[in-house]
Amino acid sequence: MDSKICLLLFSVLVLANGPASSHAQEKDFNVRNFGAVADGKTDDSKAFLEAWNQACQYKGGDRRLFIPSGTYLVWPVEFKGPCAGHITVTLEGLVKAPTDQSTFSQDNWIRFQYINGLTINGKGTLDGEGPSAWPSNECGCKTLPQSVRISSVNNTLIQSITSLNSKSFHFNVFSSNDVEFRDVRIIAPDESPNTDGIHIGDASRVKVTNCDIRTGDDCVSVGPGSKDIEVTGVHCGPGHGFSIGSLGKYENEADVSGLSVRDCTMESTQNGVRIKTWVSQLKSSAYGIEFVNIEMKNVTNPIIIDQVYCPGGGCSTEGGSNVQIKDVLFSNIHGTSTSQVAVDLICSPTVPCQNITLDNINLAYTGDKGPEQSNCSYVNGEARGVQNPPSCI
Ligand SMILES: *[C@@H]1O[C@H](CO)[C@@H](O)[C@H](O)[C@H]1NC(C)=O
Ligand SMILES: *[C@@H]1O[C@H](CO)[C@@H](O)[C@H](O)[C@H]1NC(C)=O
Ligand SMILES: *[C@@H]1O[C@H](CO)[C@@H](O)[C@H](O)[C@H]1NC(C)=O
Ligand SMILES: *[C@@H]1O[C@H](CO)[C@@H](O)[C@H](O)[C@H]1NC(C)=O
Repeated sequence: MDSKICLLLFSVLVLANGPASSHAQEKDFNVRNFGAVADGKTDDSKAFLEAWNQACQYKGGDRRLFIPSGTYLVWPVEFKGPCAGHITVTLEGLVKAPTDQSTFSQDNWIRFQYINGLTINGKGTLDGEGPSAWPSNECGCKTLPQSVRISSVNNTLIQSITSLNSKSFHFNVFSSNDVEFRDVRIIAPDESPNTDGIHIGDASRVKVTNCDIRTGDDCVSVGPGSKDIEVTGVHCGPGHGFSIGSLGKYENEADVSGLSVRDCTMESTQNGVRIKTWVSQLKSSAYGIEFVNIEMKNVTNPIIIDQVYCPGGGCSTEGGSNVQIKDVLFSNIHGTSTSQVAVDLICSPTVPCQNITLDNINLAYTGDKGPEQSNCSYVNGEARGVQNPPSCI
């Protein structure tokens, strides 16, 4: 046979079978085919769970749970693995939580658990129906359901979706590794209680990239046991800013280490970048932390370490905090502060902060009480470059 024809035949065979057959192996499990009504009133959780279970167990190739456009009411659901392989959830519709509190037996609405390899993508929205629950939590002390809990899950990408009006946290990442939030939008009003954007605890290698977070509590909060967390290109505000903590509240808390927050903008937030610990006997550490290239616009407390954290008031300060804070860099942080003490570093007399660096800080106080100030207690470290307010280290 002519070698050219041979090559042609070979190409035709490869092109026909190669990409086409691997594409054919992808399988969609569309919630509409499992009985989802999408009228926004009927509980579609059974259809979602049935579609998830079949997708998760599907062994014929790539698997996807597909939620097409439409409005779905979904009662609390647990999407559990292990699955036969990586699973994608594509959300194009609007999924709403119930407003009736009695439907929640757990402190979350949508839970992903025991999964290795998960992608959640699409242009859709998860609506936690927070306004129905917030009035019952004016004290900020009730445990309302979180919208999405990601627990014991590895290798996860959450992309492009929107979380709206969660009852409490929008996302809670717990005991999970290699999780990335990319281009995610998080929205709730300034005054909504405990609506943290993304809370991370006992988790490693979590990235929050190019997200827009406008909420009532911390934009990203990093709790005990978190390691290697990267927050990049995030807009935060309104909200309470980026925070580590609170730490030192519960027994046996693991350390927080390796947090990098870079290239972010904070707008009309209560805090900019913050580390908060309780006064208690409980020992742990937070170290290897950097806040770099942060723009503060109209922020109440742009740079703050608070080792006498006590939101409800009435705590004893005796004995100080036993959480050691060390190796923290604040670099290239500029913009405006609505409080006069723009740099507020209140560490613990028991374990003073070590190796805190202020590098190129330029924060202007917008009020009329006088020039911007910094305030330090028990801080060891150094200041370099521009220092406005003048450094107290
Ligand atoms: C996730 O990774 C951790 C650490 O490697 C491992 O112990 C755990 O079993 C993994 N979980 C899943 C669901 O893959
Ligand atoms: C400044 O932030 C506060 C909230 O802390 C907000 O109420 C106010 O509207 C903001 N002002 C401007 C000019 O953005
Ligand atoms: C001080 O902290 C910086 C991070 O800001 C770190 O790179 C450096 O190694 C620390 N220095 C010491 C002596 O531990
Ligand atoms: C500085 O911090 C100390 C200790 O918390 C506090 O007593 C003092 O009032 C603060 N000063 C200003 C100007 O806020």
